[in-house]
Amino acid sequence: MKIKNICCIGAGYVGGPTMAVIAQKNPNINVEVVDINHERIKAWNSDNLDKLPIYEPGLKEVIKSCRNRNLFFSTDIDNSILKSEMIFISVNTPTKTYGDGKGMAADLKYVELCARKIGEVAKSDKIIVEKSTLPVKTAAAIKNILDTVSSGYRFDILSNPEFLAEGTAMRDLEIPDRVLIGGTQDLYGKTAINALVDIYKSWVPEKNILTTNLWSSELSKLTANAFLAQRISSINSLSELCEHTDADIDEVAKAIGMDSRIGPKFLNASVGFGGSCFQKDILNLVYICKSLGLNEVADYWKQVININNHQKDRFAKNILKSLYNTIAGKKISFYGWAFKKDTNDSRESAAIYVAGRLIEEKAEICIYDPKVTKNQIFRDLENISNIDNKSLKNLVSVVNDPYEASNNSHAVAILTEWDEFKELDWNLIYVNMKKPAFIFDGRNILDRKDILKIGFSYRGIGKSL
Ligand code: NAD
Ligand code: UGA
Repeated sequence: MKIKNICCIGAGYVGGPTMAVIAQKNPNINVEVVDINHERIKAWNSDNLDKLPIYEPGLKEVIKSCRNRNLFFSTDIDNSILKSEMIFISVNTPTKTYGDGKGMAADLKYVELCARKIGEVAKSDKIIVEKSTLPVKTAAAIKNILDTVSSGYRFDILSNPEFLAEGTAMRDLEIPDRVLIGGTQDLYGKTAINALVDIYKSWVPEKNILTTNLWSSELSKLTANAFLAQRISSINSLSELCEHTDADIDEVAKAIGMDSRIGPKFLNASVGFGGSCFQKDILNLVYICKSLGLNEVADYWKQVININNHQKDRFAKNILKSLYNTIAGKKISFYGWAFKKDTNDSRESAAIYVAGRLIEEKAEICIYDPKVTKNQIFRDLENISNIDNKSLKNLVSVVNDPYEASNNSHAVAILTEWDEFKELDWNLIYVNMKKPAFIFDGRNILDRKDILKIGFSYRGIGKSL
């Protein structure tokens, strides 16, 4: 079966870049990315490629090469469903904020809406691809909705989770470690799997395309994120031990990472992991285990989140303690707001939590980030429940220049590992700060010896004083 038209519902951090690469590598397939968010679609269609809704290195070049050739962004969801043989569901699946499973389970209402919409609109058989990260067994629910809502057409469900990381999304899509495709093992399922394999084969070596049953694929996505986050919590937990024993976490990470069984990646101690997925996906995993009565398994994975919360909390407490237990009225400069470098995404960024704790103590926060907008930063802070608007207005400022941010401040806190922070004139920053001038390096990106030589009091993660 040859696919000629693809529809992707959800033009977000996954839908946009993923479909751009599929379109670029398959010039004979028409790819349409649709969304209910008109602003977002307008931004994807913007003539000025610096105004795309997502900042991702290398993205605008790919968009330029195939937009309006065989890649289209639209709000006409019905029409796109009607004409496509294959439909990707790439909508958000946030943690539920209400009812049963509140704060733990994935909220599947957007996925269900997509399934209902497809069932109502479709006038031919379709292959439905789960691109969103979903709890194991969701494909059964999607199939059930489609079969009952539609008027007798056939729907084959595939699971094709996305493993891209923000900031390196284009590289991850171009040269993926693996592409995972799960489907039913009957003839229909295998035909659907092969149709999707054909699309990826345009640029991914066949040995890197893994096909499995539906449930293994759905569960592998949650598992991969849980394993990655677990490594960060493991190294972060040991960073606290290093601070008490004069061991150095970077030296420990290097020593263990050279063991080929452990490997060097994802061992950077930090202020804590953020991003829209790690926490949400682990909470979802914990919820699934609890629902099945697997309490010990649930507790094991929950600990990854507990350590992450502890890490963010102790970073904030360390600032308070080092500044003589009082930060009311003191200016603290935040370098970085994004949850990692090379993205404008700040969802669940550790910076939000740390800022909230310091604002509670009535510190003045001045934030500089090269990509996250002022509006987004204020929106993030408005969502912190115990911070009122008056405090926000009086205590928080956002500037476009790192030197302005640190002017007259008592401390600089590095929350994101942007490369440009390493290149700053730290002598100048020191001169313009109040003394003693503190640096809290939540990413261990500065050279401790050089920074101490300038005169700063330096606090790294997992480093002795
Ligand atoms: P996102 O919030 O950036 O984008 C989701 C988009 O779906 C939004 O633009 C929203 O308007 C749209 N949408 C929601 N309901 C809709 C509907 N009924 N009809 C049409 N459009 C609708 O989310 P994202 O970061 O792209 O994540 C999407 C999924 O991919 C999630 O399940 C996430 O866990 C998973 N994922 C994300 C990443 C990542 O790096 N962000 C990586 C791998 C997997
Ligand atoms: C993560 C996974 O890496 C992707 O494979 C997955 O597809 C994606 O989640 C998802 O499902 O959404 P992402 O969250 O974009 O990707 O970025 P990561 O590079 O994994 O970083 C996540 C967080 O961990 C960031 O805050 C980062 O700064 C932090 N981190 C990462 C560390 O603190 N230390 C490390 O060694 C690595």
